[in-house]
Amino acid sequence: MNVNGTPTRTIWLNNNGWAVDIIDQTKMPHAYEIVTMETLDDACVAIKDMLVRGAPLIGATAAYGMALALRNDASTNACDAAYEALYATRPTAVNLRWALDEMKAKVFPLPEAEREAAAYKLAAEICDDDVAQNSAIGDHGLKIIEQLWEKKGKQGVINILAHCNAGWLATVDWGTATAPMYKAFEAGIPIHVWVDETRPRNQGASLTAWELGNHGIPHTLIVDNAGGHLMQHGLVDLCIVGTDRTTASGDVCNKIGTYLKALAAHDNGVPFYVGLPSPTIDWTVDDGVKEIPIEERDQTEVTQMTGRLPDGSVATVTITPEGCKAGNFAFDVTPAKYVTGLITERGIAPATKDGLAALFPDKN
Ligand code: MRU
Repeated sequence: MNVNGTPTRTIWLNNNGWAVDIIDQTKMPHAYEIVTMETLDDACVAIKDMLVRGAPLIGATAAYGMALALRNDASTNACDAAYEALYATRPTAVNLRWALDEMKAKVFPLPEAEREAAAYKLAAEICDDDVAQNSAIGDHGLKIIEQLWEKKGKQGVINILAHCNAGWLATVDWGTATAPMYKAFEAGIPIHVWVDETRPRNQGASLTAWELGNHGIPHTLIVDNAGGHLMQHGLVDLCIVGTDRTTASGDVCNKIGTYLKALAAHDNGVPFYVGLPSPTIDWTVDDGVKEIPIEERDQTEVTQMTGRLPDGSVATVTITPEGCKAGNFAFDVTPAKYVTGLITERGIAPATKDGLAALFPDKN
């Protein structure tokens, strides 16, 4: 993605060669601030407090968090402690565990003196792989959009519904759900994106709208409950969402509200696709509803809203009666039967055990 005309990733090595820079997404879209992580604790806070978020970026940050930890102390005890500290930051996105397990398998067994350099190298590889995977997801997803464009007689516009931010900001680059959108836009197919605001943290309103606007892609922000209405009126050609964990049988765990969009899409015959790099697949889990841990976050995310005042300052206000309790379930699971297809870096799989196994025979 270009930010002010400069190609930019969401995580990169600082000029000093060892610290790690990220964009503080809690400040967006009102401010664009770079934060430098220097310690394991910095990385844990960045993930937990959602300065970085989105499954692939959480994984990439955890990988660099491990490198920062080993820079300080590469003993076996420190490796294990860093694993536990990073693993405890957020429960749902499986990319976190995946990145830490990669470190455990490839770095921890090395002699202590080699671990730090190996951790930095592996973290960089995880980032580069994410970029390549998402770009490939874009290429495969582009074919779906091209087919819809042909079907429409190349008339009008392809309307795509997006939920949360499964974009550039949720990954190292390209995004998962947005990669096909960026590729279609670059291919000259007229697209328009309905952006779900995605309460309570408003990742759609704050991040996806910023990203698409920055890239020049036409989009319209909608409240979370508008999707069904739009689908009933033929105003959505396609839904593409991301995922924090997809089971071996194709159940898709993603930002709260995804399931309801899938139900509405199913009822209206609207294709419902999920963009996912393979590190987001949890091969150890079959039943997403029963087995995936759903993060519950602080109720103030629901009872309060943050926004820009007319004078440009940013303020947080309470929108509920005094003492109102709120539940804040951050994710839900869409059963595989409502998913039209899983767009992976290796191609598009049916959301079934056999479909995923056929694309990833090496993972079974
Ligand atoms: O709570 P968040 O903002 O980390 O949730 C992000 C999502 O739900 C994304 O859709 C998902 O991680 C896919 S990111 C490519």
